[in-house]
Amino acid sequence: MSRKLITYPNPVLLQPARPVEQIDDFIHLLVEDMTRLMYENRGIGLAAPQVGESLRVVTVDLSGPDNQEELTVYINPEIIHTEGEITSEEGCLSVMGYQSRVSRFEKIKIRARNLEGQEVVQEGEGLWAICMQHEIDHLNGKLFIDHVSRLKRAIYEKKLSKWLDPKKE
Ligand code: NI
Repeated sequence: MSRKLITYPNPVLLQPARPVEQIDDFIHLLVEDMTRLMYENRGIGLAAPQVGESLRVVTVDLSGPDNQEELTVYINPEIIHTEGEITSEEGCLSVMGYQSRVSRFEKIKIRARNLEGQEVVQEGEGLWAICMQHEIDHLNGKLFIDHVSRLKRAIYEKKLSKWLDPKKE
């Protein structure tokens, strides 16, 4: 199966993803594809809906595509604690040509399973916390553009509809 990156407004990005019940070969291959596509597209995080699978799987590697040293896989991740607030510039491999400042929790604690099925609890802040909130949003059918003002969103939608159909006014 050859998966590719899915972009907004594809409906798979807008629906809540299903929990993973069994970490089988299908999930292992999905994670391989996600990791490959994340690095190829120079991302630091990816959620399964972004490759067309409505499942609660996230890959993160904050060391980036040139280093590929810190790959972590989160199955069914849940945020169990939050603290503070931080605003930073975000973009998304599934949202073409747009970046915006988004406000997030500064610190979070999550619970998830790893690829071996073990429960993992991880706490962190900064880029990791921002990235995890962005990816868990994807699992809930939410994109970072859902966090921007109505006006900014309307301007983006207009731009996007012109890109998708250049004949439009
Ligand atoms: Ni994204």
